[in-house]
Amino acid sequence: MVMIVKSMRPYFEFLKNRITSKRFEHSVRVGRVCAKLARYYGEEPESAFLAGLLHDCGREIPVSELLKYVEEYQIECDDFEMKKPVLLHGKVGAAILALYFPDLAESVFRAVRLHVRGGDVMGKLDMIVYIADFIEPGRPYFKPDFMVWDDFSTLEELFLRVERTITLYYKNKSSKKKLERYIN
Ligand SMILES: [Fe+2]
Ligand SMILES: [Fe+2]
Repeated sequence: MVMIVKSMRPYFEFLKNRITSKRFEHSVRVGRVCAKLARYYGEEPESAFLAGLLHDCGREIPVSELLKYVEEYQIECDDFEMKKPVLLHGKVGAAILALYFPDLAESVFRAVRLHVRGGDVMGKLDMIVYIADFIEPGRPYFKPDFMVWDDFSTLEELFLRVERTITLYYKNKSSKKKLERYIN
């Protein structure tokens, strides 16, 4: 387990003011799973924890504001995102993080940016945050075997398995509520 040290306090404070306590708890769980994954697959656990902790910092920004940020920071987005602006919470969240915490590693901003929809090229930390967001124990479809990684010799294999599982899960759920969960 990653040590939550005093120097992390500013990140916790930053986050607490931006999201509900329920999402805050989700964020801490994602951070913890990220740190575990990082340790297992040979990445740096502290950065992974922070990326997981902060991944949803933009999730509760109202849609109108998300669109303002997109314009102000000249964030690139596609038609699908413009139709469902909540999908922009990763890109906007990453831009806000870069303003508040410019010393964080670029890989942290990138993982936050890509956690919603993934990207054509996924780095290790990108995959770690993406996976952790979906397999953290608070998820409705959580299965303990998501947390056993011995069968996956590489992070890529685990990533593909998680992606397939989630796609299947949501294929069978068509209500708007479930869709909203998907973009948590
Ligand atoms: Fe999210
Ligand atoms: Fe999330």
